[in-house]
Amino acid sequence: MTSKDAQLRQQVKEEILKHGEKVNSDSYRLAFHLMPPIGLLNDPNGLIHWKGEYHIFYQWMPFKTDHGTKFWGHYITDDFVNYRHERIALTPSEWFDKDGCYSGSAIVHEDTLCLFYTGNVILENGQQEEYQCMATSTDGLHFKKEGPILSIPEGYQIADFRDPKVWKKDDAWYMVVGAKTDKDEGKVLLFKSGSLTEWEYLGPVAGSKENGLKEFGYMWECPDLFHLEGEDILIVSPQGLKAEGMNYANTYQSGYFTGKLKEQEGRFDHGSFKELDRGFEFYAPQTFKDENGRRILFGWMGVPEQFEQSHPTIENRWIHGLTIPRELKWNGSQLIQEPVQELALMREAVLLHSEISIENDQKAVRGISGRPVELHLELEELNDQFAIEFFHYASLSFTKKDSILTLSRPHLEDKSKTEFRRVRLKNGLWSLRIFIDTSSLEIFVNDGEEVFTSRIYPDLNDPDILFTSLGQTVFSIEQWRLKGYQIESIGDA
Ligand code: FRU
Repeated sequence: MTSKDAQLRQQVKEEILKHGEKVNSDSYRLAFHLMPPIGLLNDPNGLIHWKGEYHIFYQWMPFKTDHGTKFWGHYITDDFVNYRHERIALTPSEWFDKDGCYSGSAIVHEDTLCLFYTGNVILENGQQEEYQCMATSTDGLHFKKEGPILSIPEGYQIADFRDPKVWKKDDAWYMVVGAKTDKDEGKVLLFKSGSLTEWEYLGPVAGSKENGLKEFGYMWECPDLFHLEGEDILIVSPQGLKAEGMNYANTYQSGYFTGKLKEQEGRFDHGSFKELDRGFEFYAPQTFKDENGRRILFGWMGVPEQFEQSHPTIENRWIHGLTIPRELKWNGSQLIQEPVQELALMREAVLLHSEISIENDQKAVRGISGRPVELHLELEELNDQFAIEFFHYASLSFTKKDSILTLSRPHLEDKSKTEFRRVRLKNGLWSLRIFIDTSSLEIFVNDGEEVFTSRIYPDLNDPDILFTSLGQTVFSIEQWRLKGYQIESIGDA
């Protein structure tokens, strides 16, 4: 441990000692989502299943509720419900990462856990430089920094070159990195290595003006390329897309392309971009394959530069959380997202009502209320319009005529306005699985064909969930009270 590293850890410890109580007093603290102990959390990082334990690292700014010099925070779990918050994995302590240990990924090689991350550096003249770095560990808790391992290809800007994702195929290692050309076009660059420390550049595999795409953003962040059930899938978070009908409604987007990766040629032939989530807060998702062969995704329940300072939790010195983990499946034409089955361990009392019929009316359903809960609705008949209102705050409504599902809530910054997110469903609406936490909603539509992830800040004492129908709607509903995650704090610093 260098003295700078020790000093930074000490500062975080003191920050938590000083203000931790205030953070934990916040009634909007989440019951079943990973949050920062204090300060700001953004992207999930370094997701890996190793020796039976899931390591979930995250971008962490402990000293303010804004972005800046990031650390890697660290959670460990073996069941996605009982977690340990471990000592900080990476502090911005070296010349090559002094202004932030930015996002990246993890692999295991010869019994060593290797993290790949971006070292962010701001020079004296204000110029920003980003390096792809490696750190290694044999116990999964203490990391040794190996420094930068990659040089930037010609034609790209060193200020925007980040978020390495590494994987192994046959006997070679591959890495994708998010990049911006000298002409401000977002790209994903592919590299190859036999050693993990020396990398050969293979080319841009996707990006703005690649593979038949027109202009498609000035920077592509957090790429993730993997194989799933016969398809090669590139998940990426492009910046600079303009809103287009119901699409691209957030400040920045996250979605995926499917196709065929040809490593030897440095090419990825792919189809069109599809957004992964339709809610107000979702960005920078990352996936990993667990020891049981499942492809699991975590996202950040937030979007950069999207009214972040209007989240009321900043009054209590914290902001943002990760999504619940979702298992990804391929249904032959698109990705399907399902909450991982372990989340059922949180379930307590259950309530079931079938054949509820509402006609031109708004109703509560006995016992269906409050939070944290998980709801399952199966829609048996829906003739015109159906809506669910959550705590007199957010509302989810479906119109049969145009098959549009809409989530609305008060605008985060200007509460006198309402904001909307929409999607057109291909085959109508037939099921909803909704995870409601103290201040978040995750809505899985039609068994995971679409998802809406959003923060909500309703009146804390309002438990009401109300159902409205124009024409007649018939549905069944099941509700579980959720006991939430158990989190043990081993070391915050
Ligand atoms: C995405 C991102 C990444 C970067 C990290 C910095 O939200 O901007 O590109 O590595 O956050 O915290």
